[in-house]
Amino acid sequence: MTGMPAWEHHLTDGDLWDVVAFLQHLPELNAEAYDQWQQRADAQLVGAARCGKPALSAAHSPFPPGYSAEPALARRPDVQRGRQALHQHACTACHSIPGVTGTKAFVGPPLDGFARRTLIAGTLPTSQENLVQWLMHTQRVKPGTAMPELGVAPQDAHDMAAYLLSLH
Ligand code: HEC
Repeated sequence: MTGMPAWEHHLTDGDLWDVVAFLQHLPELNAEAYDQWQQRADAQLVGAARCGKPALSAAHSPFPPGYSAEPALARRPDVQRGRQALHQHACTACHSIPGVTGTKAFVGPPLDGFARRTLIAGTLPTSQENLVQWLMHTQRVKPGTAMPELGVAPQDAHDMAAYLLSLH
């Protein structure tokens, strides 16, 4: 019942170990050393630098330019894993989503009854593929929108889209 979500969907194994290593160093880290690390990380755009902080813009997307949202998926979209992924990506920090625990947040529109919505964010017709595009390339679909690009991986985007489209 801990309120902290797990990070399986959001960070790779390598990223998780990087965060663990960082936390172990944290108690001895002074401000100057931290700044140096930060500059190096910014230069390399690695690890924690792409943890999906809301300030990330399309320019800092972890996906290379021209990246396609359609690599072969390992499996079919899974509604239950989608529900888990919505929790782990902390979408509920801004949206209220039926069936996904979170605070009552209204930064973004509530996502109840999403399958009945005709347009996604007033731009794309509602469909599984378009919803995947929205979740992976938010700022490219609607430049300047208040929803940040969260570095969602293709399989997670498909799972989350399947869950949202199961909400009638
Ligand atoms: C920092 C706040 C924030 C976070 C985090 C966030 N969103 Fe959003 N989201 C928004 C805002 C604001 C909009 C409205 C965008 C617009 O219309 O331009 C939006 C719009 C949407 C829409 C379209 C809603 C509609 O009514 O058409 C969907 C679907 C969506 N978000 C899903 C997600 C999912 C899934 C996640 C997690 C991976 C997520 N959002 C994370 C703020 C956020």
